[in-house]
Amino acid sequence: MRYIGGKSLLLDRISQVVEENMGQADSVLDIFSGSAVVSDHFKRQGSRVVSNDFLYFCYVLARGTVGLNKRPSFTRLGISDPIGYLNTLDINQEGETLSDCFIYQNYSPNETCDRMYFQKENALKIDRIRQTIEAWHREGRIDENGYYYLLAALINAVPYVANITGVYAAYLKYWDARTYRSLMLAEPRIYSNQRRNRCCSEDYSALLRLRCDLLYADPPYNSREYLPNYHILETIAQYDKPRITGVTGMRDYEEQKSAFCRKGTVYHAFERLVRDCKSRHILISYNNEGLLSTDELCEICTRYCVPGTFKLYEYAYRRYKNKIPNDTKGLKEQLYFLRRH
Ligand SMILES: C[S@@+](CC[C@H](N)C(=O)[O-])C[C@H]1O[C@@H](n2cnc3c(N)ncnc32)[C@H](O)[C@@H]1O
Repeated sequence: MRYIGGKSLLLDRISQVVEENMGQADSVLDIFSGSAVVSDHFKRQGSRVVSNDFLYFCYVLARGTVGLNKRPSFTRLGISDPIGYLNTLDINQEGETLSDCFIYQNYSPNETCDRMYFQKENALKIDRIRQTIEAWHREGRIDENGYYYLLAALINAVPYVANITGVYAAYLKYWDARTYRSLMLAEPRIYSNQRRNRCCSEDYSALLRLRCDLLYADPPYNSREYLPNYHILETIAQYDKPRITGVTGMRDYEEQKSAFCRKGTVYHAFERLVRDCKSRHILISYNNEGLLSTDELCEICTRYCVPGTFKLYEYAYRRYKNKIPNDTKGLKEQLYFLRRH
């Protein structure tokens, strides 16, 4: 999934730095996992992975892919191709009320809503698929693995039909061509590394006690919180019908504000990360225009590292769509590596 601050273009660099400084990492804690692309990368390299993000939809993306070593069998369900079944669900079921269809009611135009996030059919399809997955789980027809596998497939499919330019903080005022496609789930790609990988959804501070070979930390860089940008994916994942407000129908996110997104708390948040980390090595992704200055982050790393083990790597910033390095503005991606114990 395209994700703000996603590291799909930095995976080779990450591997190079790890290789150069510690060889293969037997276990990796990806403590701000986001789209789970880095967790998946380490998993493919054979590391045992612990993936964590405090947003639930990020947990779903990791749990339904990185957290599995094989495709769930769905034997109890009695449907051999659940993805195909969900893709062809009858969304206009006769006699079924639309009042419990939260996405349809709040994010597609109808008598009481003028938000234009989804075409009506796709909004309804999201609701019906989400409700069906929930019912299968509640009735014991699918286990946890099957549940998260299908939820991950749904979350991954939504951006392809959403009327946005990348994030859900606003919708377009005209219908983009992609919104006319029918929502289609695809089988998540599952890779087996034959290790007991784990996924969590906690504040980072709760996981610092875990002892892994490597803690990979990719926190937010600036004051832009993640939840407002992905609020609809969070609501589809939780399907908790929250109280929503404003033009975009935003759920409340007071509980999910990040200490890394505020000038007054970011120093302490980084200091806590490095100081309380029980893993042997730390690799931090950041950039030279982040809320915390390069000098401050270097100072924290130097204070807590095994002497002589701290290194800072800098690379010209690569944009999402533009794979050509763009260093004209002086923005640099950074990797901070240190040995902690
Ligand atoms: C830069 S993104 C990570 C991107 C990820 N490495 C990728 O490639 O997709 C930062 C992530 O940190 C998460 N986050 C922010 N504050 C957090 C906290 N206090 N505890 C756990 N996760 C947090 C956000 O939800 C977001 O997904």
